[in-house]
Amino acid sequence: MLRSVVAGTGAYLPARVVSNHDLSRELETSHEWIMQRTGIAERHIAADGELTSDLALNAAKAALDDAGMDGSDIDLIVLATATPDNTFPATATRVQHQLGAGGAAFDVQAVCSGFVYALSVADNMLRLGQARTALVIGAEVFSRILDWEDRGTCVLFGDGAGAVVLRAIESEGTSGDRGVLATNLYSDGAHYKLLYVDDGPGSGGTAGHLRMEGREVFRHAIVRMVEAVEASLRDSGIDVSEIDWLVPHQANIRIIDGVGKKLHLAPERVVVTVKEQANTSAATIPLALAEATRDGRIKKGDVVALTAMGGGFTWAGSIVRW
Ligand code: ACO
Repeated sequence: MLRSVVAGTGAYLPARVVSNHDLSRELETSHEWIMQRTGIAERHIAADGELTSDLALNAAKAALDDAGMDGSDIDLIVLATATPDNTFPATATRVQHQLGAGGAAFDVQAVCSGFVYALSVADNMLRLGQARTALVIGAEVFSRILDWEDRGTCVLFGDGAGAVVLRAIESEGTSGDRGVLATNLYSDGAHYKLLYVDDGPGSGGTAGHLRMEGREVFRHAIVRMVEAVEASLRDSGIDVSEIDWLVPHQANIRIIDGVGKKLHLAPERVVVTVKEQANTSAATIPLALAEATRDGRIKKGDVVALTAMGGGFTWAGSIVRW
């Protein structure tokens, strides 16, 4: 059977770094409050005119370099974003053109779970033979949909992009195979109003601003993210003790620590980037994957567990053997 094997990873963060101290000069907040509640110290913010497609293109080029490929090798791009350049066309099509890639390119919208959703869609298409080599990208400019006067939300997010190259490889069909072994996707629209953007092209006609009931989101996040990993472990035939690395969505260090603890994973097995990058929504997981492969933590053959939760609510898990 075919498996989608990771051939490369890439990351891109905008140059401008905004620290908690910078924010505390504009807002009634403090470095101590933000660090204690979230573990976030700073975030990257896109420059004026720097678009989601620009961030995505840079991350995609880095992932292609890492894979020893170029745009002409790609016949599928699935880009997860909640902050597309335009209402349409899909941001992925712009990236496709700039890379000189072929095949199909489209966006997936599942907010912070978007990367795992995109991975799942690409994996299914590769295993069905609908494409051979895919770019899966998470890219966001959340800074553009924040209410910079709402200290309860604007301190939590940042901008960035990460990408992975997936290649269809003939495999044994066992849990020892390299590649994406399972993905599990969930949503429950009953929680729409707990985390949403208050406008859009089909309602008031503006991009709107992010609104969130932080405590309610927190209450659901750990349970849902653990549940998603457990489902993917079951479906892939992998035991929790075999997980080498947990790469969770990076929203808040307390959520990340809670998920690690519930899965009985040692803290050094959990990849954390939230301190320097904050929550970049669909980009957090591929950014963390790129960092942990680049610094030699994630190696060929390692079992990597992914999990995320976001607006909708959506939540998702995956087990990938690197
Ligand atoms: N600086 C200082 N004080 C603040 C700030 C701030 N940036 N933000 C809120 N406060 C104040 C509030 O006004 C409130 O003051 P009051 O008691 O005088 O009314 C007090 O701090 C407590 O506010 P809460 O909102 O109850 O604070 P809480 O302890 O719940 O922490 C937080 C807020 C950090 C947002 C927390 O709820 C959280 O992390 N939730 C998870 C949400 C999340 O990470 N979402 C990301 C998107 S979803 C996802 O990715 C999983």
